[in-house]
Amino acid sequence: MSTINELRVGVVGVGQRAALAEYAQRPGYARVVSCADPTERGQADARRLFGQDVTVHDDHRAMADDDLDAVFICTPDHIHTEPVLHFLKAGVAVFVEKPLAISVEDCDEMLAAAKEHGTRLYVGHNLRHLPVLRAMRALIDDGAIGSLRAVWCRHFVGHGGDYYFKDWHAERAKTTGLLLQKGAHDIDVIHWLAGGYSRQVTGLGALTVYGENPHRRSAADGPGTQRMPEWFDLEAWPPARLRDLNPTIDVEDLSMLTVRLDNGVFASYQQCHYTPDYWRNYTVIGDAGRLENFGDGLEGDAPLVRVWNARRSGYRVEADVTVEIGPGDAERHGGADERLVAEFLRFAAEGGRTETSPVAAREAVAAGVAATVSMRDGGRPVAVPAVDPELAAYFAGHQRAR
Ligand SMILES: NC(=O)c1ccc[n+]([C@@H]2O[C@H](COP(=O)([O-])OP(=O)(O)OC[C@H]3O[C@@H](n4cnc5c(N)ncnc54)[C@H](O)[C@@H]3O)[C@@H](O)[C@H]2O)c1
Repeated sequence: MSTINELRVGVVGVGQRAALAEYAQRPGYARVVSCADPTERGQADARRLFGQDVTVHDDHRAMADDDLDAVFICTPDHIHTEPVLHFLKAGVAVFVEKPLAISVEDCDEMLAAAKEHGTRLYVGHNLRHLPVLRAMRALIDDGAIGSLRAVWCRHFVGHGGDYYFKDWHAERAKTTGLLLQKGAHDIDVIHWLAGGYSRQVTGLGALTVYGENPHRRSAADGPGTQRMPEWFDLEAWPPARLRDLNPTIDVEDLSMLTVRLDNGVFASYQQCHYTPDYWRNYTVIGDAGRLENFGDGLEGDAPLVRVWNARRSGYRVEADVTVEIGPGDAERHGGADERLVAEFLRFAAEGGRTETSPVAAREAVAAGVAATVSMRDGGRPVAVPAVDPELAAYFAGHQRAR
């Protein structure tokens, strides 16, 4: 740690997501002082986002002289592992974006390195800070639906074509697949709501719409300098009319998984990248009730959670309990991002308990990888390997060596 009280913060990978680190600009408490990105665009964005005084490098290894206390890793998914290991070894507290990695082996290597070097590791599963999901979790914890038995999540990725089929997200080599890339959020939420981890999964899915679209960028043009908001086009409807798709598209645009958790809960998750609307719907069923969200607050909407738990009936719109959640901040994931960064900075500075969990992040990757294997092999059941118990114990103790 630096000798002054203000945390010196770095950012590696200054793309679309790096704006998250603006929440770390808290004079007297934390300040972004150094960034690394190999591209001119990323380096220009570093100065635009964090000020002209920020030191800008083209390689994270050059940040060694910047005396960092904490670093945000916001590179594409397949480029998380190397910088994470580098900073863990250097003793710099790491925030890494979800998914932790695109393979279980890489996740386990990162967990082991955090333990070996005693350096704090934090994974940016921001949905654990989303108000509507926190309200659902509180209702479950309060016993509103009895003992939890099933979690079903339907994920309508309405802007999927723009978000996931125009850049690296569309390539297996860079994501493994979208059931992991995008699904890691909800697999983690399913685990968090249910209080267990996936141990056996099946997956099904295919490339059903975007594979037929011939309007691809030329591979010779390279990845380009645009960021996602610059190519986003709400007017392109139906999604088959989208243009300038990624030259390689080999991930699925429709996928689903079913899963048995280690505590006997059953869950399912369905993801579609061309629905007209963009939100996620959770139905959580216990042995004495059911709850469901309507809206999720991620697009500035004001969601409701409805709980049916007082009597049996036919179809009934009015629930026995309705919880109203205020409107979310559409720009910053319903307000979840600000809470996420605040938690990371506190953890980097002081340690202690956090809402997000590196082991849970690894378990989300493990389930997503297994479901992808299953999906690409006829939907056969695939076992999900559990994390090393010694690593699990270290992280359960909030990353304090015994
Ligand atoms: N939690 C969330 O809600 C959320 C939302 C969006 C993205 N993400 C995650 O954030 C990460 C970044 O996504 P993005 O949308 O910003 O991607 P992006 O493509 O917009 O930006 C990635 C940046 O990393 C840079 N980069 C590539 N290789 C690098 C290297 N070796 N060293 C340093 N920089 C390098 C690129 O030049 C680019 O500027 C991904 O892991 C993604 O899954 C999470």
